[in-house]
Amino acid sequence: MTIKVLVNGAFGRMGQMTVNAINTHPRLTLVGQTGREYDLVKSIQDSGAEVVVDFTHPEAVYNNVIKILDAGARPVIGTSGLTKEQVVKLQHRAAELKIGGLIAPNFSLGAVLMMKYAREIAKYMPNVEIIEMHHNNKADAPSGTAIRTAEMIAESIHDQVACEKPCHETLKGSRGAKCHNIPIHAIRLPGLLAHQQVIFGESGETLTLRHDSIERQSFMPGVCLACEKVMKLDRLVYGLEEIL
Ligand SMILES: NC(=O)c1ccc[n+]([C@@H]2O[C@H](COP(=O)([O-])OP(=O)(O)OC[C@H]3O[C@@H](n4cnc5c(N)ncnc54)[C@H](O)[C@@H]3O)[C@@H](O)[C@H]2O)c1
Repeated sequence: MTIKVLVNGAFGRMGQMTVNAINTHPRLTLVGQTGREYDLVKSIQDSGAEVVVDFTHPEAVYNNVIKILDAGARPVIGTSGLTKEQVVKLQHRAAELKIGGLIAPNFSLGAVLMMKYAREIAKYMPNVEIIEMHHNNKADAPSGTAIRTAEMIAESIHDQVACEKPCHETLKGSRGAKCHNIPIHAIRLPGLLAHQQVIFGESGETLTLRHDSIERQSFMPGVCLACEKVMKLDRLVYGLEEIL
């Protein structure tokens, strides 16, 4: 028995990659491909999809998750842009319906390891800043990965970032956006795909964690793993690291 998967946002860059990955996976069967013009609930019901992977747009993702849950399928969400409040609301909705799923700010193994070790290092080196770099077609900033990294670091240092001294910004925004008091700087350029540095600094030394997704293929093992794992979940999990 294989797992029936529908891909929403199937005609976009990540969607196409996901369609190919599912088509070549021995335990997953692609039962539908939907895009902007489709009736998502009807497509899920007509196809009998058990899992729906969503790589669409930050403005659409919240409503898409509601539709997926209401149609009785398990969401595997890669689309960025969900706020913490929206994630909590969706988790409540999934719990009410007793449906499992996953929201992953990043599906690549290397990025998840970067976040995990950033959380560890911050216990010893709490002065930290994040630089994330993406292609210039990315619709939102900062990236979900950068926000998740800051959240995970904050878990271990309890918002006690020591580096922030008063600084007059001659140009507003020069010190980046703050998430849990951790500065995040977002770069958007052609030629980039998805990259991040987490830079820790202490007296006389720095330590840099750097992750580079060079090809979108890097996200596919995580997406396929999530499609399998959500079948056994009874809650909506946030972060790929929670199911590895
Ligand atoms: N979690 C991860 O590991 C990861 C990795 C890469 C990209 N992303 C995120 O995935 C999302 C998609 O990225 P992309 O590069 O494939 O973008 P893209 O623009 O190439 O593709 C998005 C597709 O979704 C479609 N779409 C837009 N609104 C829709 C809706 N309401 N319903 C159905 N389809 C809709 C668009 O028409 C397009 O075909 C972005 O939010 C991006 O940040 C996440």
